[in-house]
Amino acid sequence: MKFNFLNKIPIAIPLFLAGQSLAQTTILIPDTLAGDVINLTLQNGTREFYPGVATKTIGYNGNFLGPTIILNQGQQVTLNLHNQLSDTTTTHWHGLHVAPANDGSPHNPVMDGETWSPSFTVMDKAATYWYHPHLHGKTLNQVVKGAAGLIIVRDPEETAMNLPRTYGVDDIPLVFQWKTFDSAKQIVEMDEVDNEVLVNGTINGTLHLPAQVVRLRLLNGSSHRFFDFGFADNLTFKQIASDAGLLDAPVSMTRLILGSGERAEILVDLSELQGSNLKFQQFGTQLPQGYPGGPMMMGGMTGPKDNTDFDLLTIQVGAPTSNAVTAIPATLTTNTAWPQAGASSRSFGLSAQPMMSMTNFFINGLKFDMETVNFNTQVGKTEIWTITNQTMMAHPFHIHGMHFYVLSVNGATPPANLRGRKDVVVVPPMNGSVKLILRYEAFSDPHIPYMYHCHILSHEDTGMMGQFIVNSASSGTIENAAQEHLRVSPTLLAPGLEKVEISADNGWEPIQIEVYDQDGCLLLTERNATRIAVDRLASGMNSIQIFTARGTAVFKVVKTN
Ligand code: C2O
Ligand code: CU
Ligand code: CU
Repeated sequence: MKFNFLNKIPIAIPLFLAGQSLAQTTILIPDTLAGDVINLTLQNGTREFYPGVATKTIGYNGNFLGPTIILNQGQQVTLNLHNQLSDTTTTHWHGLHVAPANDGSPHNPVMDGETWSPSFTVMDKAATYWYHPHLHGKTLNQVVKGAAGLIIVRDPEETAMNLPRTYGVDDIPLVFQWKTFDSAKQIVEMDEVDNEVLVNGTINGTLHLPAQVVRLRLLNGSSHRFFDFGFADNLTFKQIASDAGLLDAPVSMTRLILGSGERAEILVDLSELQGSNLKFQQFGTQLPQGYPGGPMMMGGMTGPKDNTDFDLLTIQVGAPTSNAVTAIPATLTTNTAWPQAGASSRSFGLSAQPMMSMTNFFINGLKFDMETVNFNTQVGKTEIWTITNQTMMAHPFHIHGMHFYVLSVNGATPPANLRGRKDVVVVPPMNGSVKLILRYEAFSDPHIPYMYHCHILSHEDTGMMGQFIVNSASSGTIENAAQEHLRVSPTLLAPGLEKVEISADNGWEPIQIEVYDQDGCLLLTERNATRIAVDRLASGMNSIQIFTARGTAVFKVVKTN
């Protein structure tokens, strides 16, 4: 990723600045990466957010943030994540429906200097997803310094519509991040007193857009605070997509609240605005009580920009492009939630200790523990989750590995813009509640859990997280069946042995093989292989997971030296 370091317009060209604000920094548009193989290097760097000051940062393939990854539904992709952080990390594909072993959760650590290469088929619908580190206890530390990027998934349904999709021209990725800079202008992890907002790494910058319908892909990539987005003159915009897919129809709005981790795609009609400067703003004064960034919360720490309205960026509207989109479609897609009949229920209580605490949070009375699986479920099952919030502040609740539909918020039908596919939902404070429905589709793994957590990163890091195992269908019978149709030999590996052979009955051929050491660290992934090189295994116990079209089997092999 090459960011264009246009830090400030030099005062040597004052005529150009006439009538404009002096803080003219063009908002940078991250480069894109596409194709079957995506190479990402997570690295340390510095970035000049403030003139003349080098701020220490982390980025993917660069100093801050990362390239936008463009994927097509149905494609196979291998992501090579090379870790050059001098620290352990993980990278999570937030919102993508992938197997737990490919998810980049705290259970897929990548050691310093190593490369992790998950490979999977893109199953998701066209929408805006993102990626970021997820090492337990270190997520805030790594994300807040800049390690995050967007993923744009395209699919045939969305591609058939006349929507703006020329990246960086009429289809604009915007990563909004509250940050805390200390007096030396270094980013600190203390996310409760955020004092600045970056848009694609730029403070109060300018975006040049054509006078036509444009699409803005908004990510609240903050560690803590919420946004209540809107335009200065209450210009109406239309939300077309939520976290994980298109809405049924564009929803007209003048304000849009996003909690940490949430995304939205909006269309704005700039056709009549050529030559004008449009302010896109934070309306913190309009956030509900208890939403971080809004009106002061009892017992909460207040950041200098909380409960204020301010400019996030200026849009300078220029000439339209030749192939401009000029109309907004009336309908988009049909979202159909799974039937509630026959679904089982689960409840999650968000609580604080002591009750008024603004920093110490629990889910169902528990703190996250890497070794504790909070519940087991089964692939194919539909569940209704009720999340109640007994704390004084709102928490954005996120689930890995699947999308969900929101059935109700505080007992009422959700507003139209929350009725599409989502993977983060804001649970309102002070006995607020959200009911959602989800289905465990496609992936099961007897060993590696999926996570659910508050997406306020300091909350997540301090244990406001849980995990669950999705077992294969009909309580393990398919798994046992797979076990009977596959053979791994030998299982006791004497010194000097080169290969472990895998044989399968017809129809049970391995599609993917994953090997884990006894700490659950993924050692290798092979596709369509029938043997494993012994020198790639750990000494001691190794667990070989074999995924077939009809089920998953696990074999233990022991390597002796
Ligand atoms: Cu974006 Cu588990 O996180
Ligand atoms: Cu996620
Ligand atoms: Cu929280």
